[in-house]
Amino acid sequence: MIGDIVETKQCQLKDPMDLFHSGQVVKICAPMVRYSKLAFRTLVRKYSCDLCYTPMIVAADFVRSAKARDSEFTTNKDGIDLNCGCPQRWAMSEGYGACLINKPELVRDMVRHVRNQIDNPRFSVSIKIRIHEDLKRTVDLCQKAEATGVSWITVHGRSVEERHQPVHYDAIKIIKQSMSIPIVANGDIKTLKDAENVHHLTGADGIMVARGLLANPAMFAGYEETPLKCIQDWVDIALEHGTPFTCFHHHLMYMMERITSKQEKKVFNVLSSTSAVLDYLNDHYGV
Ligand SMILES: Cc1cc2nc3c(=O)[nH]c(=O)nc-3n(C[C@H](O)[C@H](O)[C@H](O)COP(=O)(O)O)c2cc1C
Repeated sequence: MIGDIVETKQCQLKDPMDLFHSGQVVKICAPMVRYSKLAFRTLVRKYSCDLCYTPMIVAADFVRSAKARDSEFTTNKDGIDLNCGCPQRWAMSEGYGACLINKPELVRDMVRHVRNQIDNPRFSVSIKIRIHEDLKRTVDLCQKAEATGVSWITVHGRSVEERHQPVHYDAIKIIKQSMSIPIVANGDIKTLKDAENVHHLTGADGIMVARGLLANPAMFAGYEETPLKCIQDWVDIALEHGTPFTCFHHHLMYMMERITSKQEKKVFNVLSSTSAVLDYLNDHYGV
């Protein structure tokens, strides 16, 4: 089984379901292997993100390895999300990820199993899926999951085979209309305006973003590109969390992509130490 941990804005709300009942569209940072770690989640929460997912965690590795736990389980509290959306070959061949969308009974059993392990009935258990070519199968999967007590469902509006094809927001709308629990829309949302448009197109209760937040962690706060203040915040938060250099640097490359020239990237992207990065930021941006 693979899944992600879901965190709310620290100390503000007791559990994620309160967010979905607040009447506002819930703004969500997607699970991202190698990227959506605690330091980054702390950053995006500072910029109007309501709910964050850890990178996916392979349950067997988590149980077996203290290193895996230390690396991935940097969280405070909250919910569990079952990953039924990862289309990578390794996950599919192990029976994990997106192949679960073809096994509604197994999803139901896993949700039940997680629920049975936890006394608190308000603890959230959610799933993240991709869609089928035949949408009736997706609606059936979602309805079965709802009947088992899933708290909400995130829909990445692409099939397992699709990579860069346009997202099927019309399919997310049909799923939303067929369900009573909250539905979160995901796929190709890059700005706050996109988030508003997708909310109007689908009626979804929440909007989940992955690459858009890597490129601009302040996008949910309405910024069109990463503000310098956000870069400064990332430096402060990352250093405070003891973020490994590669992770620290990669995030900066992503978030500075739109605000640096080709020439600047050539220099910045090959820097190889925290002190070199800090000197560069200070010299060029006064950060
Ligand atoms: C770097 C990266 C890592 C990802 N890791 C995960 C993951 O751990 N679990 C998961 O369910 N999806 C993962 N995804 C998929 C995203 O959560 C999301 O569904 C997908 O990127 C579409 O959203 P977007 O268009 O906003 O990027 C990852 C995506 C990216 C770009």
